[in-house]
Amino acid sequence: MTPEWLKDTVFYEIYPQSFLDTNADGIGDLEGIIRRLDYIKDLGCNALWINPCFESPFMDAGYDVSDYKKVAERYGTNDDLIRLFREAHARGIRVLLDLVPGHTSDRHPWFTESCKAEPNEYSGRYVWTDGAFKGIGGHPYISGMKERAGAYMLNFFASQPALNYGWLDRTESWMSATDSPEALSTREAMKDVMRFWLDRGCDGFRVDMADSLVKNDDADKHATAAIWRDVRNMLDSDYPEAALVSEWSSPFQAICLGGFHMDFYLDHHGNGYNTLLRDWETEGGDHSYFKKDSGGDIGRFLSDYLPKYEASRGLGYISMFTCNHDTPRPSYSLSTDELKLAYAFILTMPGVPFIYYGDEIGMRYLDVPTKEGGYQRTGSRTPMQWDNSINHGFSEATPDDIYLPTDNSENAPTVEAQSGDPGSLLSETRRLTALRHSLEDLQADAPFSVISAENCGYPFLYSRGSLIVAVNPSSSDVRVQSVELAGRKIVYSIRSCSVEDGVLSMPGQSFAVISVT
Ligand code: GLC
Ligand code: CA
Repeated sequence: MTPEWLKDTVFYEIYPQSFLDTNADGIGDLEGIIRRLDYIKDLGCNALWINPCFESPFMDAGYDVSDYKKVAERYGTNDDLIRLFREAHARGIRVLLDLVPGHTSDRHPWFTESCKAEPNEYSGRYVWTDGAFKGIGGHPYISGMKERAGAYMLNFFASQPALNYGWLDRTESWMSATDSPEALSTREAMKDVMRFWLDRGCDGFRVDMADSLVKNDDADKHATAAIWRDVRNMLDSDYPEAALVSEWSSPFQAICLGGFHMDFYLDHHGNGYNTLLRDWETEGGDHSYFKKDSGGDIGRFLSDYLPKYEASRGLGYISMFTCNHDTPRPSYSLSTDELKLAYAFILTMPGVPFIYYGDEIGMRYLDVPTKEGGYQRTGSRTPMQWDNSINHGFSEATPDDIYLPTDNSENAPTVEAQSGDPGSLLSETRRLTALRHSLEDLQADAPFSVISAENCGYPFLYSRGSLIVAVNPSSSDVRVQSVELAGRKIVYSIRSCSVEDGVLSMPGQSFAVISVT
């Protein structure tokens, strides 16, 4: 079963380091999230995804966990997190934590144990070969650093050894089967972590690299999906209100096979997401659909999206997002007017949308040095800009001591400046989330179908349930005639649009939601 609450949910992703620092140590904290729950509620978001906030050496911003059951000191205590669940729930906001099941930090005690020459309970917890001179064909590994005579496999950075869920195609004697005691015990350990936080009030998990568990499972990932199906069974029986969203970007595998409730529509695996917002690497300029007059073709997105939507419909949701902590912010290439249309689209599509903190005010991607393994991702992880006080209201620490610098430009966007301005991106975003909450036909389940999407022709017209949505990212006025428009009225628009006698007129860079009268 799919939790009912997902039907009308808009998520807000928080990178906790950079949201709000309440004790002037220069780093965001859980208390900071608690203090901004009312802001999040006003924004129209009724669920959070918080990036990993657990004990970690922070070689990968916390995606290198050294204790899954302990909040990192810099963010607060387990009790603070439990208080955050409570305070969020009191405002109708759900909280997803970030589960990193594919690897731990190399400082995790499980790993320390598994590195010992003497066999012990954790010897099979990670992927190890049976000799210091034996590598792992086709996979990154490290050898020669530990007492144990073997090489261990990496899942991401050098500090992130791969947990052992077994191999599908076992070509070497040291490769565990997916149903071996050691692989099953890793799986149970991860389920135990989930239970730990679910029992304390969390509402589910965003699952990091969810497709990375079973090795040699590349063809269709069915062995990895089977593990998630088992996790889903646990949720269905013991935590039916909990939700899982995968970093996978393959709804067939994640939702249909694995049983995830939601799967991110990410910009990797060559999908259509980039064609909407960040197609600047194509020859001949930026062809992003939402870039004004880019000649962008919505058909490129649709040909990728529609089969995924059809396959997963009724089973789970595709999650569109403004961006995340790994991608450039959408304002990197889009202007405020372009962002309004892009968000209008994201917030009127089926599934469960996510807004990344700061995107609601058009925070910029900043050119800053790498921090905690961020590299080029760091520019999208800078502190939230609340107002024009010191550090844009993020922290009272001296500016040199904060996690990352804030945007020093004179016109740096802030919540304070945009709050009272009806023309701001923040106000538009608030109106759009409110619209979605007020019309069931714009929410997760209402059917989506394309009415007209000509190659480079504007507007793009689609229906959601009984509603028609129209978007015109070009700078030209457009008119479109359709029998489907007859007798309808506009219930929401960006710039002034009209429908008369079945003809829709839209100025350049506009958007409209049209209902039956
Ligand atoms: C995911 C996270 C990313 C992290 C990586 C390794 O892609 O989103 O931030 O570095 O996994 O855990
Ligand atoms: Ca702090």
